[in-house]
Amino acid sequence: MRHFIDFSDLTPAEWTELYRRFDDILRRPADYRECARGRVLGALFYEPSTRTSFSFQVAMQRLGGSVFAMSEPGSTSVSKGESLKDTIIMCSGYADVIALRHPCEGAALAASLYARVPVINAGDGGHMHPTQTLADLATITRLRGGLDGLRIGFCGDLKHGRTVHSLICALSRFPGVSFRLISPPALTIPDYLRAFLHARGQRYTEATELDTAMPQLDVLYMTRIQQERFPSREEYEEHRGVYVLTAAKMRTARPDLLVMHPLPRVDEIHPEVDEDPRAVYFEQARLGMYVRMALLLGLLSEPAGALPDLAYRGGARLCANPRCVTAREAYLPPLEKEGRCAYCDARLRISPPSDTPAKCHQNDAGTQIFSC
Ligand code: NCD
Repeated sequence: MRHFIDFSDLTPAEWTELYRRFDDILRRPADYRECARGRVLGALFYEPSTRTSFSFQVAMQRLGGSVFAMSEPGSTSVSKGESLKDTIIMCSGYADVIALRHPCEGAALAASLYARVPVINAGDGGHMHPTQTLADLATITRLRGGLDGLRIGFCGDLKHGRTVHSLICALSRFPGVSFRLISPPALTIPDYLRAFLHARGQRYTEATELDTAMPQLDVLYMTRIQQERFPSREEYEEHRGVYVLTAAKMRTARPDLLVMHPLPRVDEIHPEVDEDPRAVYFEQARLGMYVRMALLLGLLSEPAGALPDLAYRGGARLCANPRCVTAREAYLPPLEKEGRCAYCDARLRISPPSDTPAKCHQNDAGTQIFSC
């Protein structure tokens, strides 16, 4: 079964093909009106969403398909304590493709273990948001002509911003890209991402000031401080309003800068910047719908895969991250990838059993499965 959990699920050739399809849909949308006739998207949103949820739903409708959506988990059996596994098994009997947004890190990978249809990660807690990355890459490619050699600054809450994590991982695959990571010291990128950048030998610098970085950037990717991911209101308040992009700051930037933002914006971009032709965040949101059309088309045209293996393998939690899906859904098999939790990339709580190879096997994706 083909899923889209992370940008790395696409080969470079597949990304090129997806971009080509996106470009074609933009030019000839009428030609795609019947492409998904009779097919159904299950849009399961366990967390608030405007753009991602709407753009998925409208993308499916513009392809001629239909949608059933959950935007209020409180109005479904989730509020009665239904597990993610049961909801996914059930919904994959109704839908041809599922888009899932969930507050737990690693929830999309967990869902993909039990789904009979492709699962798309529409945001898993503070971890990843690969379809926003598709929107971001498509926007930069369309407006700048390509991604190679890009100098991009990420500014704001880089610790909790899943759109940042996904985009950094994706951009590091393109030649000559460099990152300027601008955040308060307490909101720098998570350690798994830092380890990833080091392992790749990726060029990046870190700073706390936005002003000094401005003149050198091709793209400035602003993000909000993610209020809902802080342990307390006080900790959020400490960082609130720390960066505000103003018209005065824009005067120091390159004439061809692109100012991007996954939205929603809170106070980090002053509304006076909206009129500046370099502010492309609303165009970025619009293009996101077309790139999701291209993704849906690709996944719907894949041949049906093998049925999921529903054997119970849970019971031993490997992950140290309290926000990991394995902390909430205890039946999940403990999966490890390159010494980290395969669901959320956090460090392991227990070392993998090195002297008992017979108890481990690898699945098709190269993930080690420990049957503890
Ligand atoms: C982002 C998200 O949900 O992670 N929004 C989006 O999907 N476009 C960014 C955010 O919430 O700050």
